[in-house]
Amino acid sequence: MDINEILNERKKWFEWKNIKPIKEALNKFEVKNAKYQLNDIIEIKTDEKLMPKIKDLALMLKPWRKGPFKINNLFIDSEWRSYIKWNSLKPHLKLENKDVLDVGGNNGYYAFRMLEMNPKSIEVFDPSPLFNLQFEFINKFIKSNIEYKLLGVEHIPYYPKKFDVIFCMGVLYHRRDPVEMLKWLKEGLKKGGEVILDTLIIEGNEEVALSPMRYAKMKNVYFIPTLKTLYNWIKRANFSEIEFIGKRYTTTNEQRKTEWIEGESLENFLNKDETKTIEGYEPPLRCYLRLRY
Ligand SMILES: C[S@@+](CC[C@H](N)C(=O)[O-])C[C@H]1O[C@@H](n2cnc3c(N)ncnc32)[C@H](O)[C@@H]1O
Repeated sequence: MDINEILNERKKWFEWKNIKPIKEALNKFEVKNAKYQLNDIIEIKTDEKLMPKIKDLALMLKPWRKGPFKINNLFIDSEWRSYIKWNSLKPHLKLENKDVLDVGGNNGYYAFRMLEMNPKSIEVFDPSPLFNLQFEFINKFIKSNIEYKLLGVEHIPYYPKKFDVIFCMGVLYHRRDPVEMLKWLKEGLKKGGEVILDTLIIEGNEEVALSPMRYAKMKNVYFIPTLKTLYNWIKRANFSEIEFIGKRYTTTNEQRKTEWIEGESLENFLNKDETKTIEGYEPPLRCYLRLRY
């Protein structure tokens, strides 16, 4: 697999008819002076005269799943309060001087938050041209040297660079072959490197996984394992060390409908008291793990 060939081929994705007008508008947009703060809300201060253009661009870039961001007084209140996950992980991370990859990194919200930990390099892989453009938009202000690539987790084994830390959050349950995916992550690590994994699990001590046709209205969720099963998959992928960081239910405080997304959100995917998904399954429970080999 030739990664450069894939990246070249994927440049054409910016010609898609829903993407091209946004790309063109963004290419014409320049920011000279901006300041930013990497708080839970990534806050940017810039020339007030740019605000009409900024608002137009931000609206063109909808839906905003991850965030939030604030540009002067424009609050991009994304569907997810992504800082809740970030704050759960942050005390467990050491990224200084590390080569870091966030695979499935969406618009780079977490990658931007990583900047304050002074890693040596940060790359984001995500095969979504829209989320890539959201990243480019925010990075017009921040001007970081984060590299965003339209690649997926399946490209990691063929990618020439290896990483000290690979974040893989919210991706595993979308894969048909979770063990194979975990092997790809391992292949992306330098010796002594680690994976920070965030994925859905179900409660229970059995070695089983839920395999629903739809889960919380998502059609692309293949397997949701118990922790025991997840550990078995991880061992099959030849990781030798698993550190349990924590687990947490997703609530409508973290994921909810805002004006920055179209359509529904978690409140429509759960029953009224948030004790079951709309399909009658356990509500979304995530665990965070650190994996080494
Ligand atoms: C559920 S979101 C998780 C986003 C973010 N990592 C988080 O934890 O909040 C899944 C992300 O995976 C991306 N994605 C889709 N196909 C992928 C692939 N083959 N490899 C990696 N990421 C992929 C989507 O574009 C989306 O941004």
